[in-house]
Amino acid sequence: MKIIITAGPTREHIDPVRFISNPSTGKMGFALASAAARRNHEVVLVSGPVALKTPRGVRRIDVVSAREMLKAVEEEISFRSSDDEKIVFISVAAVADWRPKTFSPVKMKKSAMTGTLELVRNPDILKSLNKKRLARLKLVGFAAETGDPVDEAVRKCREKGLSFIVANDVSLKGAGFGSDTNLVSIIARDGSQENLPMMSKLAVAKRIILKVERL
Ligand code: PMT
Repeated sequence: MKIIITAGPTREHIDPVRFISNPSTGKMGFALASAAARRNHEVVLVSGPVALKTPRGVRRIDVVSAREMLKAVEEEISFRSSDDEKIVFISVAAVADWRPKTFSPVKMKKSAMTGTLELVRNPDILKSLNKKRLARLKLVGFAAETGDPVDEAVRKCREKGLSFIVANDVSLKGAGFGSDTNLVSIIARDGSQENLPMMSKLAVAKRIILKVERL
């Protein structure tokens, strides 16, 4: 099966030396790529800027911004109706929801900055793919929440047309951004949920890949 995974943060540049981003390190997405490759799937990893080595057997595409990430993912999916290849897209990346309205190709002078940054919405990668209504494309998401993540995760699962969503409370120690472990609930569209104990990101990834294989 072809599995496309996004990982890491995106950076939304204000100028060449300043950007909006978030603390994602790519560990969860890279663990998923590694687990999928170990199960002999064809794995494409579209990664934002991170400091991790590409797992063995994985084809990696590096991107910076949300728009580049969307383009790279779309280029990996054949939208031809004659094709019957099943594809699973797992959206682990912490994609910036907003970007600066304008980009200055040269470093902005402090004196020229007003103290207010105008933002515009970035495309939502999962929603864009869901709109294509491709039956052989299955979508899996993650939900990063602070506080009980379940209600928000169920809403995102339905809104983005996902087969299931993996919710993590990123305010808990040992879960979410940067840690080697994660504490997640896997939630289906009907609201049914499987709560996993705290485990390594690789162990979480292996459980998710087993679920993906049953889609
Ligand atoms: O990289 P690590 O340091 O290991 O941290 C892992 C993690 C915390 C980043 C990961 O476990 C995680 O929760 N990833 C999802 C982060 C996120 O952006 O969640 P969200 O609730 O804002 O978005 C919901 C889903 O929509 C996600 O699958 C996200 O990839 C997707 N999305 C979000 C915004 C956008 N513009 N396009 C999207 O497709």
